[in-house]
Amino acid sequence: MHARIALCPGDGIGPEVITEARKVLDAVAVRYGHTVSYTEHLIGGVAIDATGTALPEDTFAACAAAEAVLLGAVGGPRWDDPKAAVRPEQGLLALRQRLGLWANLRPVAPYPCLLDRSPLRPEKLSGVDLIVIRELTGGLYFGTPKERTMGPEGLRAVDTLVYTEHEIRRVVELAFRIAATRRSKVTSIDKANVLESSRLWRQVAIEVAERHPGVRVEHLLVDSAAMRLITHPSSFDVIVTENMFGDILTDEAAVLSGSIGLLPSASLGDDRKGMYEPIHGSAPDIAGHAVANPVGTILSVAMMLRFSLGLEREAQCIERAVEEALRDGCRTRDIGGTLTTHAMGSAVRERLAEAAAGGSSSAMLSRAF
Ligand code: IPM
Ligand code: MG
Repeated sequence: MHARIALCPGDGIGPEVITEARKVLDAVAVRYGHTVSYTEHLIGGVAIDATGTALPEDTFAACAAAEAVLLGAVGGPRWDDPKAAVRPEQGLLALRQRLGLWANLRPVAPYPCLLDRSPLRPEKLSGVDLIVIRELTGGLYFGTPKERTMGPEGLRAVDTLVYTEHEIRRVVELAFRIAATRRSKVTSIDKANVLESSRLWRQVAIEVAERHPGVRVEHLLVDSAAMRLITHPSSFDVIVTENMFGDILTDEAAVLSGSIGLLPSASLGDDRKGMYEPIHGSAPDIAGHAVANPVGTILSVAMMLRFSLGLEREAQCIERAVEEALRDGCRTRDIGGTLTTHAMGSAVRERLAEAAAGGSSSAMLSRAF
């Protein structure tokens, strides 16, 4: 088949990790007889510098026309002035919202060979295999009013946490469908003891759960969930939660895997179109040093093959090649090694042939869509 991919490398280490991920995608495509065409676009800080806006219209149009978007990272100290009218992050948020990508999937399953890289004791990590489904286009990130005003007592700033029943239902439904393909457990996380929006969230989650009797459900307050992610991480299967709780909890969950540089994500909406990005940021401190870990972006390509292109075999081939490379001791600096970004990408590519020969296991997750 032929795939049309929009690349948005963005800022900091974004271009470095995208380069390696693209090479892996090209290699897998050749191996399985597919072709891929790319267009490349500005987003974030580099877009602000070039055009004055974080999401230029031609970037949006190209992303809307492509089958999938592969994004590096946005942001950096150059654009961090809290008083600035435009910020790189606005580009990413606008793209998620305008493409209608309301669900963000962030799987976390530590590699056995990397258990010593996590600050948690290895015995705590055994059996950890969870996926966070983060609501992505609602909540505090997008609610209005969102403003800053001058009042009699000085400046005043407002963000609004708003959710509709529809927004909650579709993402919780997705969590239950995904859970049915895994260990059949959903943990819905809210702050229903304090927030009205969370009380609606819980009410809808209870209703959805009733229609999925084969899936166990639990409702957890976000503070207690934050603690349990560290004390009993293997007790989770599918986590579903609102936008900001999901943002915070996925950085916390990344600690389980040993490095945030390893983790991929998929952002999906009503159809197959998706945006794929590593969960790490632009890491300005290491940008340009060729030491960034490309694995999170390479695994995002695997998710792209699975969810937007329907190529499960190819997705698993990449996932196996990554696992094999890590097992063979190939490591970038964040996981205790010395390989460059490029050498790590090559290490994965070199293992694709062997990984392809390994055959594929059952394609559970993609069946939820
Ligand atoms: C993430 C990031 C973004 C978010 C930022 C860069 C806007 O932290 O994808 O987790 O908060 O969603
Ligand atoms: Mg985040």
